[in-house]
Amino acid sequence: MSQSPASTAPTAPTTSMAAVAYSEFGPADVLRRQEFPLPEPGPGQVRVAVRAAGVNALDCKIRDGSLRQVFPVDFPHIPGVEAAGVIDALGEGVTGLTLGDQVFGPTATGSYAGYALAPAAVTTLKPGPLDWEQAAALPVAAETSYRVLELLALRPGETLLVHAAAGAVGVIAVQIAVARGATVIGTASEANHDLLRSLGAIPVAYGDGLVDRVRAVAPDGVHAAMDGAGRGDALAASIELTGGKERVVTIADAAGAARLGVHFSSGASDEPRHRPAFEEALALFAAGKLRVVIHRVYPLDQAAEAHRESERGHVTGKIVLTV
Ligand SMILES: NC(=O)c1ccc[n+]([C@@H]2O[C@H](COP(=O)([O-])OP(=O)(O)OC[C@H]3O[C@@H](n4cnc5c(N)ncnc54)[C@H](OP(=O)(O)O)[C@@H]3O)[C@@H](O)[C@H]2O)c1
Repeated sequence: MSQSPASTAPTAPTTSMAAVAYSEFGPADVLRRQEFPLPEPGPGQVRVAVRAAGVNALDCKIRDGSLRQVFPVDFPHIPGVEAAGVIDALGEGVTGLTLGDQVFGPTATGSYAGYALAPAAVTTLKPGPLDWEQAAALPVAAETSYRVLELLALRPGETLLVHAAAGAVGVIAVQIAVARGATVIGTASEANHDLLRSLGAIPVAYGDGLVDRVRAVAPDGVHAAMDGAGRGDALAASIELTGGKERVVTIADAAGAARLGVHFSSGASDEPRHRPAFEEALALFAAGKLRVVIHRVYPLDQAAEAHRESERGHVTGKIVLTV
């Protein structure tokens, strides 16, 4: 992994920062710009002056309250679980990172903010060629893709079906699986088929007749399936196509997983797995084998519009906020 030249540490404001946050569950309109005290890094944490923050479908599901049982939040809540930026403070016991380092990774506090705290153990130096927006788009997508491909025990030469292959996680999962030597079939609407082809996948349209369409392009069968769609008949079709439940993993349909007996996988910001996931993604990026697809970049103040766009369900790659 190449290392960015350390830049001058930004000068933190005295005690406060701007962020976008909400104080009640609800539609995107609840997101408001507010002032917050500057967060102080605890042991093992760094504080990052955020340059860009990734927008995840999860941020919207937490904000609308539908996940309140699983992801309870205190109000006011600053959303955002990943960022790229410059380290401006080090917590106790942090080694290997320095003030001014340009980094990216998962955050322990909301990243829709001027500053966020991050677990130092998985905060990773940003290579120069990866710009701020691309770096902010990687943490969740890379860790999730890596985790699911490991759970599926995907081997070179096997065929993988990826549902929602044009989404934020899908585009990264497709490229990692292709680089690992798999044949990848990805579901997306027609508008995204050229993109999927350019990433090395065989595109198929989702919806009625999916099983037959996949069989037509996979004469040797499908060995494993990753569901990022969480809707329609993605899980049932995956079980039918792989011939069982063992090599089907969903990241988007906990209820369907429980009903059908397949594995639902979720991650956490302090997972040690972030490190090998980022190393693999950065190595592929450096080799020109991984494209970070950005759907659209919004300024932080337009976080509500970014959420509305995400909730329309047809994001291609990642939505990113710049701070
Ligand atoms: N459990 C975890 O660890 C974890 C981690 C990350 C994300 N997630 C979840 O996984 C899901 C995917 O995340 P993401 O960030 O990749 O989402 P995303 O970027 O919002 O996904 C958008 C994509 O979904 C596709 N899509 C829409 N309807 C579809 C359907 N019926 N069948 C197949 N594809 C369809 C769209 O393709 P078209 O535009 O071509 O229609 C679009 O490209 C979300 O539910 C998210 O919350 C879970």
